[in-house]
Amino acid sequence: MDPLTIQHSRGRYSIRPVPMEEALHDLPASTFLITDENVARAWGHLFPKGTPSLALKAGEQSKTIAVYEGALEWLAQSGATRASTIVAVGGGVVGDAAGFLAATYMRGVAYVQVPTSLLAQVDSAIGGKVGLDLPSGKNLVGSFWPPSEVRLPVEALSTLPADEFRSGMAEVWKYGFILDEGLVQRLDEGPMHAHDSRLPGVIQECLELKKMVVEEDEFEKTGRRAALNFGHTIGHALEKAARYEGLKHGEAVSIGMVVEARLGERLSLTPEGTSSQLAAWLEREGLPVKSSLLAGEQEMLDAMAKDKKATECGLSFVLLTRIGDCKLVHGVAASEVVAAMRDA
Ligand SMILES: NC(=O)c1ccc[n+]([C@@H]2O[C@H](COP(=O)([O-])OP(=O)(O)OC[C@H]3O[C@@H](n4cnc5c(N)ncnc54)[C@H](O)[C@@H]3O)[C@@H](O)[C@H]2O)c1
Ligand SMILES: [Zn+2]
Repeated sequence: MDPLTIQHSRGRYSIRPVPMEEALHDLPASTFLITDENVARAWGHLFPKGTPSLALKAGEQSKTIAVYEGALEWLAQSGATRASTIVAVGGGVVGDAAGFLAATYMRGVAYVQVPTSLLAQVDSAIGGKVGLDLPSGKNLVGSFWPPSEVRLPVEALSTLPADEFRSGMAEVWKYGFILDEGLVQRLDEGPMHAHDSRLPGVIQECLELKKMVVEEDEFEKTGRRAALNFGHTIGHALEKAARYEGLKHGEAVSIGMVVEARLGERLSLTPEGTSSQLAAWLEREGLPVKSSLLAGEQEMLDAMAKDKKATECGLSFVLLTRIGDCKLVHGVAASEVVAAMRDA
């Protein structure tokens, strides 16, 4: 893998592939490390001695205001100053939560991302979106706060549970579906695993695609960055319906991509047969493509109405115009969404 640089409105940061030991070496002075209990168990032996560290409970439950407040207090009581750096060592939950702490503690401090899940390595650690969930919905509190650098240890994936790896693969497929037919062809060779020789190349491709999108539309103003939300309008509503338990982010996105492909077919935007093709690929990858939660139509619609893309003109969806391209569509009728969910 090659290093990459991301340009943003306030500067730039590098993404450097490194072994885990190097990722945790030579950290800035006055570092405060934030991780979760699983990552601490697997990699804590490499955490720098003497660096204050906080291990959050693993899982989405740590992206809450209550946990955030506790972590702010921990920073204050441990002596973190404006010159301190937060180092986020973990998956997307740790990255989002620690990034939001960095964005807001003392009006903002620097932070370094050390993503340890596949999902974080291909997606959440890059692009500067940080945030927390509210009881009303996912990621409803947040900021754009780019990291000062990303140290990317592919090696960390060796301890990632297989179901978490598959969850990250949903986002990998997503990049192919929305932006890159060639990536889909490479993934079509067969299910991917943590020691797959294709993996470094595939992560690199995802990073290059995310770089292109976030550099073009850093603050999600033009609709370009919204493309990354393919599968997420349904996916986030499913996660909420599941109370953030029992359904991983990538699993919800996998189901969401199939439903949203079906919605695109209903609206004559997505070629007929695309949703069943997506379902076949995702199922072969070991991902779910349907859920009984889709039957809770009103609950799903209420959750979607709170989606950040929703406007007074109705629901908005990223829909595929073919495999490898997509379009943001506003004002989608709720009846069409319900019909697409019923066909699951
Ligand atoms: N900011 C963004 O742009 C963005 C983009 C996509 C997703 N997200 C967010 O990311 C989150 C999901 O991320 P995730 O799937 O990484 O979830 P996660 O952080 O909960 O990690 C998944 C699980 O894997 C464990 N884990 C992580 N790395 C490990 C390792 N190397 N060894 C052993 N266990 C390990 C974690 O402890 C956790 O149990 C969601 O909250 C989602 O909203 C944010
Ligand atoms: Zn996602």
